[in-house]
Amino acid sequence: MQPGLSFEQAPPISVPFRFFLTAPLFGMAAGLLLLWQGPAALASRWTSTALALTHLVAVGFMLQSMCGALLQMVPVAVGANIWQPRRVTLFTHAGLTLGTILLVAGFIFESAPMFRLAAPFMAVSLGAFALIVQIALFRTPAQGPTIVALRMAMFGLIVTLALGVTLASGFGWEVALPLVDLTHIHAAWGLVGWSLLLVVGVAYLVVPMFQLTPPYPRLLARSFPVAIFLLLSAWSLTWLPLQRPEAAQIALVCAGAVLVAGFAIVTLRLQAQRRRKIVEPTLLFWRAAMIALIAAAALAVAQQMDPDVDDYAGTPFLLGVLLTVGVFVPAISGMLYKIVPFLNWLHLQKQAKPGPAVPNMKQMIPESRMKMQFRLHLAALVLLLAAVAVPLLIYPAALALIASCAWLEWNLVVATRMFARVNRELAQRETEAI
Ligand code: HEM
Repeated sequence: MQPGLSFEQAPPISVPFRFFLTAPLFGMAAGLLLLWQGPAALASRWTSTALALTHLVAVGFMLQSMCGALLQMVPVAVGANIWQPRRVTLFTHAGLTLGTILLVAGFIFESAPMFRLAAPFMAVSLGAFALIVQIALFRTPAQGPTIVALRMAMFGLIVTLALGVTLASGFGWEVALPLVDLTHIHAAWGLVGWSLLLVVGVAYLVVPMFQLTPPYPRLLARSFPVAIFLLLSAWSLTWLPLQRPEAAQIALVCAGAVLVAGFAIVTLRLQAQRRRKIVEPTLLFWRAAMIALIAAAALAVAQQMDPDVDDYAGTPFLLGVLLTVGVFVPAISGMLYKIVPFLNWLHLQKQAKPGPAVPNMKQMIPESRMKMQFRLHLAALVLLLAAVAVPLLIYPAALALIASCAWLEWNLVVATRMFARVNRELAQRETEAI
């Protein structure tokens, strides 16, 4: 059975919105940290600033908004019932927000007590969320490539979390761990096993629906997440103690990168075949994300094949920036610009009965404002990449990142305020009618 959309199952609008409104604030915090630290932030991928920045974006922005989107999407799009959605939301949102602040503070101040607090906070709040969503995904009778990808992504989140908590506990309680090896595996599961597979599962559903493209080819949709999952698992095993088959590692990374680039190319081709040839903001964000994904895959292959690229200290930054600021943040922003106006409209429409007109989706966030934010985000991405070669560019890059995230936040606030205003008016009219 293919999943259909079942809006009766939609959770209250406050469930996803609190995550969506929090995420850009962490993006702004990342920009402020960059501005404060300047070129020192790029000294090495292992500096406390670089690690804090990674988690402000990867957990503060990406994971935060992805949790909100999942709590909305899982019941509506794949018909899976989440246990106690209101309680799970409150608990996850508070735990994740506080846990992220503690983790980032632990990195910035190199503080063992902060890591000692962050580790259990993240383990409990995010662990409970991941298990509850995973159980819901396994209990739904619906089938299809989106569900397969989402189940694998949730497994990826559990692995990322387990390794992240182990690493943070290692810092907190000063336990000797094979830090570098564990960090490689944690980072790969966080960026590929969790974030990429989630974007892929969501893309299968929303690219054809929102951008009016043909569906993804069946074979690709079914086999891509499974192939990536198997390659990532095999690659992780090569890091086990006493083994280090370098040739196998290179082959696995290259095979994964080629598949990932293939997925991005197919998505770009589907977008080119869309039925309405207008260029709307979500299309721009997703197109940019797919181009950045191809660039990241090419760089990953070059890093494996060319020792000069591997030795270059800027390579991990370029890869990290391409994947986080280049792929995931735009893909999420493009999604938010569809989901938020749609949810506003859906919830107001349900309440409106045959009453006054509810504003249409285009009125919720004006398109020109979304396109302006897209330009700011693109500027931030290009400047961040260029700063690897010209470190002083880190200052305008940081300013562009702050401006882009602040603009995104304001666009979401405008839509939320419009929802609140119309909702109030509808409730008032109903009371007057009685
Ligand atoms: C799911 C989202 C996450 C993603 C995408 C992610 C990503 C990453 C990446 C890419 C790195 C390597 C940074 C570099 O090489 O410069 C890293 C390191 C690290 N992560 Fe995460 N992470 C996530 C969640 C977490 C969580 C929840 C925790 C802790 C509770 C955590 C704790 C750590 C620690 C302690 C390190 C540093 C290890 C070291 O310095 O050796 N991460 N993470």
